[in-house]
Amino acid sequence: METLSTIAAARRRREADRREGRTVAFVPTMGFLHEGHLALVRRARKLGEAVWVSIFVNPTQFGPGEDFERYPRDLERDAALLEVEGVDVLFAPTVEEMYPTKPVVQVGFSGLDAVLCGASRPGHFAGVGLVVARLFNIVEPHVAVFGQKDAQQALLIRRLVEDLSFPVRIEVAPTVREPDGLAMSSRNAYLSPEERAAAPVLYRALRAARAAILAGERDPLAVEALLRGRVESEPLARLDYAACVDRQSLKRPERIDGPVLLALAAHLGSTRLIDNIPVDPPLEASP
Ligand code: PAJ
Repeated sequence: METLSTIAAARRRREADRREGRTVAFVPTMGFLHEGHLALVRRARKLGEAVWVSIFVNPTQFGPGEDFERYPRDLERDAALLEVEGVDVLFAPTVEEMYPTKPVVQVGFSGLDAVLCGASRPGHFAGVGLVVARLFNIVEPHVAVFGQKDAQQALLIRRLVEDLSFPVRIEVAPTVREPDGLAMSSRNAYLSPEERAAAPVLYRALRAARAAILAGERDPLAVEALLRGRVESEPLARLDYAACVDRQSLKRPERIDGPVLLALAAHLGSTRLIDNIPVDPPLEASP
């Protein structure tokens, strides 16, 4: 595996891949890798001849008072994990390399970035959009793999690629979970043992809400109330949002009669966790 930290070196390596006719599959990350990230890498392995992974804790997607400084980092351990997965290129630039000047271009998503996580983290998706666009222009991948864990992010990246005609195919891989259902996340490292024990409440709430829909519940407000109730029954959890929304518009439908996304965010102590599941309600028998 080749580890590169400058844009110039990445472009040179990319040129070599192009000369030798290798397709490139790319997995952007912020590092502190876990099985969720590695599942994306394995998917990328199947999709491209050269696998590129980036590790960059992107300051522009963290708000003031968020965890940019304390975000967990361990490049050596990450590099060893990626080596085992047969990754070809690790691109790990510094903040100065990625942002030599303060960017003036802003990526907006016409309100799709103002709901769910965007409502609690203003500016977050503008930062994600900017860094992903920049990474795509450096790596020029044929295909890029994202996780369903960050469903809103995956949707917005699809829109970014569509609206700006990036020649990149976006693949979304399922959420990888701990045996007790907790979605893997670099931020799980922040949890105290008590908080860790309480954290699976998110997935349990999502499953209960899915079961309600599959049993015939069609009122999104009732589903959201169920999600809220389940999370609030855990004393260590403080709910941020509970949503039952259309998968494309991220708006709450009048009635659940098509595919929806159930999505949750909650604080456990000072750690903010998110999770979601897509649900396809069974078709109703026509009269
Ligand atoms: P990060 O949180 O490191 O996640 C990198 C990728 O791994 C994202 O596509 C995310 O959805 C996916 N991922 C995280 N946990 C997962 C899990 N349990 N199962 C499956 N996939 C999982 O998301 C980011 O970084 C950044 O916003 C980034 C896109 C790199 C831009 O800075």
